[in-house]
Amino acid sequence: MTDIAPNDAAGLPARAAALDLLTAALGSRAGMDEGLTHPALAALDGRDRAFARALVMATLRHLGPIDAALQSKVRKPPPDKVVQVLRLGVAQAFLLKTPPHAAVGTSVDLVAQDRGLQMFKGLVNAVLRGLVREPPALHDPELLAPSWLYARWRAAFGPDEARRIAAIIAQEPATDLSLKDPARAAALAAELDGEILTGGTLRTSRRGDLAAWPGFAEGGWWVQDASAAIPARLLAVQPGETALDLCAAPGGKTLQLAAAGAQVTAVDRSAPRLKRVAENLARTGLSAETVAADAATWPDRRTFDAVLLDAPCSATGTFRRHPDVLWAAKPSDVAGLAAVQSKLLDAAARRTKAGGRLVYCVCSLEPEEGEGQVAAFLGRTAAVALDPIQAGEDGAPVASVRPDGTLRILPHHTEGGTDGFYVARFRKSG
Ligand SMILES: C[S@@+](CC[C@H](N)C(=O)[O-])C[C@H]1O[C@@H](n2cnc3c(N)ncnc32)[C@H](O)[C@@H]1O
Repeated sequence: MTDIAPNDAAGLPARAAALDLLTAALGSRAGMDEGLTHPALAALDGRDRAFARALVMATLRHLGPIDAALQSKVRKPPPDKVVQVLRLGVAQAFLLKTPPHAAVGTSVDLVAQDRGLQMFKGLVNAVLRGLVREPPALHDPELLAPSWLYARWRAAFGPDEARRIAAIIAQEPATDLSLKDPARAAALAAELDGEILTGGTLRTSRRGDLAAWPGFAEGGWWVQDASAAIPARLLAVQPGETALDLCAAPGGKTLQLAAAGAQVTAVDRSAPRLKRVAENLARTGLSAETVAADAATWPDRRTFDAVLLDAPCSATGTFRRHPDVLWAAKPSDVAGLAAVQSKLLDAAARRTKAGGRLVYCVCSLEPEEGEGQVAAFLGRTAAVALDPIQAGEDGAPVASVRPDGTLRILPHHTEGGTDGFYVARFRKSG
C-alpha cells in the first residue's frame, strides 16, 4: 500500500496525465523518462503531479495482479487506452485509498473524454464496480513480475528466492544517498532522518523535492542505491591513483571514485548523459575528465590503476524505482546486451594496468549478464583472475557472496530492499 494521502480532490487532468504517463512507460524502455517531461504533467500543480506519478508507480508495481483481476471480469480485451484507464481505476480504488465512487467515476469520465471510446463507458463502470464489490488480491508475488521473467528467476535462483525477489516489486523504496565526506555521516543522517547502512550509504524515508533537502545544494551527497554504491568501493582507490569509469553516466560511481581522491576519467557514449556527469561533478565540487566515446573502440592508449565497467544491461534489478523496466523488457534483450557486455569487458581489461584492479557490474538479475559473462571472460582472458570479494566487505551483504567470491546481490538480501546487482572483481597479472 502506497503512503500517498487520499486525494479525491485531484481531478480529471491529474488522471489524464497519469494515463499519458502510464501509456508512455509501457510503450518503450525510455518511455517513463520521456513521459515525465510530458506537458500535461508539467501543467499540473505540485500536489496533483505527485498524485499522477504515485498513481502510475502504484499501477506499475502491481501491474500483473491488476491485469489478472481485470481478466477475470473482461471477456474480450477492449482497446489499449481503455485497458490503461481500467488499470489506473483499480490502482486508485485499492492501492491509493481513493474512495471507490471517485475511482469509478473519474475512470468513466476519462473514457468519455475520447469520442471514439464512448461505447466503453458502460464496460469501465461495470468492471470497476464489480471489482469494488469483490476486492481483488493485488500482492501475489507470482503475479507481480511478467511470467517470462519470473520463470527465469525461478530457474536461476529457485522457487523460494524467486518469490522473495518478486515480493519486493510491490514495495515503495526508501531513498539511498552516497556521501561525499563519510565524516559527515552522523550529522547528515540526523538532518535527513536517516540511518547509515553497512558500507556507508545513508537511507532515508523522506519524500518530496530532493533539491530542498539539507546537504543537496552544497553537494554533500548524491542519490545512489545502496547496492549501486558497492562496486566502486570495491576498487578501494587511493588518493592519486588513476581510475577509469567506462560507462559513467549519470555519474554516481564517478563521483565515488573522485571523492576517494582518484584521478578519474569518465567515459560514456551518450553526450547528453555525459552532461549529467558534468553537472553532478559541478554540484559536488569534484573533478574528473569526461570523454564522450564508445568504450569498446575508444582510441586512447592509457592504462589505469583501477577500472570500473558498469555495463549497459537489461536493468531488471532496478524494478524498485523503475517498475516499468519489467514490462518494457523483452526476452530477446538479454542476449543482445550480453554480446555488448563481453566486448566492453575485453576493452576494460585492455585499459587495466598490469597489477591493476577491474570491477565489472550490472544492475541485472539475469545470469547471462552476470555469472555467465564472467565465466566466459575468464575463459578467454589469461591475464585476469578473480579477486574474491569477502562477505561484509564495503557493504557486500553476506547472503550475496558466491563461492567464487563474486556477488549476486538479490533485492531482499538487505533489510528494506536494494537494487539487484551482479559484481565481480578481477586483478590483472603484473
Ligand atoms: C548502467 S548505466 C551507467 C550508470 C553509471 N555508471 C552510474 O553509476 O551513474 C550504463 C551507461 O552505459 C552507457 N553506454 C552504453 N553503451 C556504451 C558504450 N559502448 N560505450 C560507452 N558507454 C556506453 C550508457 O550511455 C549509460 O549511460
